[in-house]
Formats: sequence, structure tokens, C-alpha cells
Amino acid sequence: MNNVTIIEHPLVQHKISLLRDINTGSKEFRELVSETAMLMCYEATRDLPLKTVEVQTPLAIAKTKVISGRKLAFVPILRAGLGMVDGAVQLVPAAKIGHVGIFRDPETKNAVQYYCKLPFDIAERDVIITDIMLATGGTAVKTIEILKNAGAKNIKMMCIITCPEGIEAVHKAYPDVEIYCGAVDEKLDEKLYIVPGMGDAGDRIFGTK
Ligand code: URA
Repeated sequence: MNNVTIIEHPLVQHKISLLRDINTGSKEFRELVSETAMLMCYEATRDLPLKTVEVQTPLAIAKTKVISGRKLAFVPILRAGLGMVDGAVQLVPAAKIGHVGIFRDPETKNAVQYYCKLPFDIAERDVIITDIMLATGGTAVKTIEILKNAGAKNIKMMCIITCPEGIEAVHKAYPDVEIYCGAVDEKLDEKLYIVPGMGDAGDRIFGTK
């Protein structure tokens, strides 16, 4: 699969198994989402450019590396994507955070934006969209459209579980957007849930069901 990175790290895979488990309660689910997002963010930022600097150690001058130039923004898709922000920001504390809220119109099935607040300098930032499940891809595609219209150029999508339908939808519209995920599950069911998936991630994270 082009432009899809499945993060096979054992810690990520182990945590995803716990997330899938129907017996995992909201508190643990929230913690696991945050921890998984942090580990995934480590991979999704692997291509950040470095520059060499000189640092005085107690013994000598070391030629050593720091991240150069590029600034990051995380953009969670409300509401489940919020759960991934804490973990990601722990790795990149200087990142700014935008929020995008989208719902699916029950009649037209179209993705409709109801909220959007982005950092003023989003056009100068690399953007990582977060959502726990990339299912139909409708909200992801709409979010990418919003970000591109705001000037963002380098956009990545980070989700914990996706499925072939979600990947296809995103890459049909935006082949340049790299998807980072922990698992590509089998399919969507008739209610558009990912199977086997982990159920309704929003409900599980916020305890609303
Ligand atoms: N959103 C969810 O929370 N779960 C799914 O399986 C699909 C979309």
C-alpha cells in the first residue's frame, strides 16, 4: 500500500489489542489511546529534518543534532481524535493544536463542517491530523480539504485503526497524504463501523454509552 505506514512496534500492537477488548473500561481506554498516540507520533515524526549544532559538554564541544526549522500542528477531528492529542503533544510540546468538527448529514451522507479553529500560521506548519478510527474516510477527506484551503502543504493522517475503504477514500482524494496507523482491519459493516475494530471510539473514550 502506497503512502500507508502500519506501525508494527510490539508496544503499539499490544495496546491496540487492549483497546479492542470489550472489557476495557473508559479510564483504561483513554490512557491506552494517549499512550498509543505517543508511540505512533514517534514514527510519524521520523522524517523531521535535523541540523548539526555545537554544544559545550562538561568535557568538550560536541557536534550534535537538533530538529531544524519545521514547525508542527496537531489537528484532532472531534471528538474521538481529541483523545490522541495529549500523547502526541508530550512528544512535541511546541506543537500547536487546531480543532475540526465534522458530522455526517444523515440525509445526504455528506461530511459537514460545524467547527474549525486552526493556528493562525497553519500554512507554515507540518500538520498531523488525529482520529482514532479512519472508517469511510469522509471526515478525513473533508478535514484535509479544510487544511489545504487554509494553506497547509505537508499533511499526515494518524489513526489507530483503519480499513481498506478509509485508505482508498483518502488516497483517491489526496494521494500525497501519508497515513500512519496501527492496524488495517477487514472492512466496514452496514452501520459503517470498522470490523473487527474497537466499536465506537468516541463513546468508549468519553464513556457516553
Ligand atoms: N468510528 C468509530 O468510532 N468506530 C468505527 O468503527 C468507525 C467509525
